[in-house]
Amino acid sequence: MADRIRFVLNDLPVELDAPSPMTTLLDWLRDHRGLKGTKEGCAEGDCGACTVVLERADGRREAINSCIALLGQLDGEAVRTVEGLRRPDGTPHPVQTAMAEADATQCGFCTPGFVMSAYAFAAGGEKPDLETVHDALAGNLCRCTGYRPIVEAMTRIAGLPIEPAAVASVRTGSASFGTFQSPRSLVELLALRARHPEALLLAGATDIGLLASRSRKPPAAVIHVAHVPELTAIREGEKKITIGAAATYAEAMPLLIAHYPALKPYLSRLGSRQIRTMGTIGGNIGTASPIGDMPPVLLALEARLTLVSTRGARDLPLEDFFLGYRKTALAPDEVIKSLTLPRLWPGEVFFCDKLSKRRDQDISTVAAGYRLRIKQGKIEDARIGFGGMAATPKRASHVEEALKGQALSAATFESAAAAVAQDFQPIDDWRGSASYRVTAAANLLRRLYWRLAEPQRAVEVEAL
Ligand SMILES: Cc1cc2nc3c(=O)[nH]c(=O)nc-3n(C[C@H](O)[C@H](O)[C@H](O)COP(=O)(O)OP(=O)(O)OC[C@H]3O[C@@H](n4cnc5c(N)ncnc54)[C@H](O)[C@@H]3O)c2cc1C
Ligand code: FES
Ligand code: FES
Repeated sequence: MADRIRFVLNDLPVELDAPSPMTTLLDWLRDHRGLKGTKEGCAEGDCGACTVVLERADGRREAINSCIALLGQLDGEAVRTVEGLRRPDGTPHPVQTAMAEADATQCGFCTPGFVMSAYAFAAGGEKPDLETVHDALAGNLCRCTGYRPIVEAMTRIAGLPIEPAAVASVRTGSASFGTFQSPRSLVELLALRARHPEALLLAGATDIGLLASRSRKPPAAVIHVAHVPELTAIREGEKKITIGAAATYAEAMPLLIAHYPALKPYLSRLGSRQIRTMGTIGGNIGTASPIGDMPPVLLALEARLTLVSTRGARDLPLEDFFLGYRKTALAPDEVIKSLTLPRLWPGEVFFCDKLSKRRDQDISTVAAGYRLRIKQGKIEDARIGFGGMAATPKRASHVEEALKGQALSAATFESAAAAVAQDFQPIDDWRGSASYRVTAAANLLRRLYWRLAEPQRAVEVEAL
């Protein structure tokens, strides 16, 4: 079993002992390699100053936040930092030249992060329409230049010929770096989990990485689940789709959006590209936050989880997983293997909403998913999930009852809106007061009615 972390950094192989299982890539780059081009702004995945690019074996290049990526996660990967963009003759990379020529930099602190996001964007061959450019830059903040010249640079960058990606040192066997375990099969993962129930399960580290960057206190052991093929598989069946718990958002989004198109704008607001490169749906469920974005929509879609241990597998409806504030039904020896979602059938519709203080890169104040079956103007069935309204993500059972069997009418949705207060007694916090949350949730149901019955009105309201 391998016991040293190996990856490719700026085209050169690196082999090292992890100083601690919670050492972040950013700290290692700056403190151990002297690569200071990658900056630390927030150390929480928010500002993008620490952005570097993963160069995948299949040629994909994806931006990540090095401040919350743990060194052990990089085993077998190829990483490029801003220092690795320089041409062999010492001249800047065309992406850097485009940024300079568009006057897209002022104090320069944020610039390496923007350059790396722009490099991933250019390598992806994407079109420079405003929506795509904003999406590519949503994870990078600039405090002085203003975004107009940066957006201008992105339009110059699109279509630039970009060199082939570096070849990663592909790891096939399991690895163990001190207390950081990186199994490559389900059998090994479950055996480790049974032996170390106290260990921290780690997927993309977009939640756990914050612990690393804040406290730096190492847990007793870490088990990294992201390289276990059974946990990363994505399958499309005739009646349902199955998403491995450790599949990243970036990997799962195409299939999810193909089946539930309303998820496209919703998922584009889940973190940033950097977060979606690493973050997983299994991690969003495992962290059991009452304001995670996936649980409300997954509750509406009737998701079921497959939980596995050396004792076997069990199937659990997602709504039975959340027991209380950050308390779940996961046994100490279990891991989430996958989730399954039934496909939508004729007559079924799905919508979702996220309210947050800012459009991008913000956790929701209230999030909701709705699946309804409507036939001949009558609501035959309704499943509604809300986040931010209780100690756990939760179905709105009184709202559902107010809708079921009723005509698709404004009056029906008024009754549903009135039922929100029966389902939820939310708390006040800095994201929103209890009364704001109840009012907002009721208004989301009114907007749902417009989407179903008066789509033009819904579009007009959404454009406000
Ligand atoms: C800047 C920033 C923006 C963010 N924006 C959003 C947002 O808009 N919406 C949102 O919902 N979240 C957001 N998040 C939170 C985070 O990105 C998500 O919760 C993400 O889905 C976590 O996935 P992960 O793979 O990174 O989990 P990790 O950090 O690796 O793990 C999270 C938890 O899940 C557990 N876990 C992971 N995999 C498994 C498994 N297979 N079985 C059992 N337990 C498991 C871990 O033990 C841990 O407790 C944001 C985070 C950051 C840093
Ligand atoms: S330092 Fe701000 S995102 Fe990493
Ligand atoms: S140029 Fe100063 S923060 Fe962006």
